Amino acid sequence: MPIDWDEKAGIFHLYNNKISYLIQIVHDKYPAHLYWGKRVHALQPSSILAFKRRPFSPTTEPDFPQFSLDTLPQEYPAFGNGDFRSPAYQIRSADGTTVTEFVYDSHEIFQGKHPLKGLPAAYVEDKSEAETLVLTMVDAMLGIGMNLHYTIYRDFDVITRSVSFEHFGSLDVEIHKCMSMSVDIHRSNWDWIHLYGTWGRERHIERRPLNHGIQMISSARGASSHQHNPFVALLAKDTNEEQGDVYGISLVYSGNFQASIEVDPFQTSRLSIGINPFDFTWVLEPGETFQTPEALMVYSSEGLGGMSRTFHKILRERVCRGVYRDKTRPILINNWEATYFNFNEKKLFDLADAAKELGIELFVLDDGWFGHRDNDKSSLGDWYVFKKKLPNGLDGLADYIQKKGLQFGIWVELEMVSPDSDLYRKHPDWCIHVPGRNRTQSRNQLILDLSREDVCNFLIETLTRVFSSAKISYVKWDMNRNMTEVGSAALPPHRQKETAHRYMLGLYRILGKMTKQFPQILFESCSGGGGRFDPGMLYYMPQTWTSDDTDAVERLKIQYGTSLIYPAITMGAHVSDVPNHQVGRITPLLMRCHVAMAANLGFELNIDKLSNDDKKVVMEQIKRYHQIKDIVCFGDLYRLLSPFDGMDTAWMYVSPNQERAGVFYYKTLATPNPPFFRLKLRGLRPCEIYRVNGGEQEYAGDELMNIGLTLPLINRDFYSSVYHIEAFEK
Ligand code: DGJ
Repeated sequence: MPIDWDEKAGIFHLYNNKISYLIQIVHDKYPAHLYWGKRVHALQPSSILAFKRRPFSPTTEPDFPQFSLDTLPQEYPAFGNGDFRSPAYQIRSADGTTVTEFVYDSHEIFQGKHPLKGLPAAYVEDKSEAETLVLTMVDAMLGIGMNLHYTIYRDFDVITRSVSFEHFGSLDVEIHKCMSMSVDIHRSNWDWIHLYGTWGRERHIERRPLNHGIQMISSARGASSHQHNPFVALLAKDTNEEQGDVYGISLVYSGNFQASIEVDPFQTSRLSIGINPFDFTWVLEPGETFQTPEALMVYSSEGLGGMSRTFHKILRERVCRGVYRDKTRPILINNWEATYFNFNEKKLFDLADAAKELGIELFVLDDGWFGHRDNDKSSLGDWYVFKKKLPNGLDGLADYIQKKGLQFGIWVELEMVSPDSDLYRKHPDWCIHVPGRNRTQSRNQLILDLSREDVCNFLIETLTRVFSSAKISYVKWDMNRNMTEVGSAALPPHRQKETAHRYMLGLYRILGKMTKQFPQILFESCSGGGGRFDPGMLYYMPQTWTSDDTDAVERLKIQYGTSLIYPAITMGAHVSDVPNHQVGRITPLLMRCHVAMAANLGFELNIDKLSNDDKKVVMEQIKRYHQIKDIVCFGDLYRLLSPFDGMDTAWMYVSPNQERAGVFYYKTLATPNPPFFRLKLRGLRPCEIYRVNGGEQEYAGDELMNIGLTLPLINRDFYSSVYHIEAFEK
């Protein structure tokens, strides 16, 4: 996967076996975007760029008036020298102006990929896995170097991009905008797709045609958010799950972001993603460097399915880290929906006893074990055991649970503080706030100011104490509100707009330290469900609580949408009680199990109160899950039927060697007098002979893929089935 540099033509070619990305330095100054897509070999790249004089498109090169930045497809465009489209960056110099003139200065190509200082990013385990190009642009008057970092992987059809600004001048400047990447894609007759939602309804898919002008999604909530995921994709009109061009970009960041596409009158689509420039400024002093978060860029000619499989692979293998990266996860019981705040030691023992009997492997104690927390009105910040509920402490509870043969885990929400807490009474200035202004509450809590080093140090000490106080194998890291009155008591006035990004840097520092110090702990991130389900969090915590909505029907859409980018091994999915606590729906236990088994299976209900019949269902499904969970966790996903299109949903996971598959089918509402239905499978070996659920009947792979698996006639609502497909050796 070399990066070739043709000095004469001024062209960089980044390629692996499947993709190519081409950049040309035009007039020795401007990095123009030539191409991103399927691998190309023989080409005359200089012929890709065509120039024509356009009225009202100014030129920086009077000797060549056909040239204008306004119409040049660019790699990292500025505003102010003739390009009137959305710029990738904007810098205010000491004289108050924002006009910059960055031009190509030099470049470096090296094997491997460097980590990003203080930020999560895709990594390599061996230098031979990737090659990196750093293109340096300089504005001599400002004294700033702008490094455009590009990495191409050998085994993933992924390019990563980020930008760093190095100040070697003498006067402070302010960065007002600095996207992680920008690319001008030829043509505009694309659709675009993104994931939107709200609490309990995260990551629903929306596909729309591109229009002229700017279309944008963003978050200004201080978190990547339930509302929009930091991801967008452009797709050809005829792209579906299996075929068609897709360009997907995802940001490895958990805070405010913006992703936008601008279509200009000459049918170019400018695609960009990065920190949300709204309410953001970064003061760069001489000698300092600012590093943007990293963007993952995936091109697929195999439709949305191909794009997802590539995102899954890079996230699973080169963004997630730690000992759990390559391990299936324990089946857990979480007491939240079983007890909410109302538990004592005896109740937890009962749940643990029942869990053991059912074959569950990990017990998770959720919210309410600390301070004097009997509801959500107090105690965040006071991370000491609530002795009324746990007289023998966390270690007493953990001992009981471990003696049963279960692992033990706890819930924390370290980033927050309750106004009713000793911590807040002692340090009222430790939360994000603006002096003299109201402190808006959400779930009766305020956010600790993680942009402050002293606050982060306090949290690191607190966590070290809590995580060392018992044998803890799992931590659910929650975060239950978004930022308001964003300001920091520790920052000077001209740096206030750095608060939200500095908060993320503080959070990443804490998470980096904790995951290093406690490598045996499996961390699951959560933000009222999936309010911070993003690649940045996955770098530290290899799974996320997908949604607080555990209804089996709602979860089909949530998990299907989430799977556009995130692999099943990163999704927490629990079987909960009926009527469901979020929507009141009653679905069979079997369907609830089957939905949760399509990700990291867990339970979140009073399992000590289950009937014998229900216990039997749970035990059987746990057994079934053990048969297929390695395929769910590490297999290739094929989405077969979308819950956004009707009453039927189906997806399947295929083992890397294509010898096994797990197929999941769900029907929400039944149809009277239904037709026969065959489910066409994907990803199998055409000439392989397979058996289904250990039965005698043999099927060729191409039969299952082209004719399909005949499903039973279904005459009831909320039907589901799981098929284990295995290659059969005669
Ligand atoms: C929100 C989470 O998403 C829930 O699962 C639960 O942990 C509650 N917080 C506890 O307060």
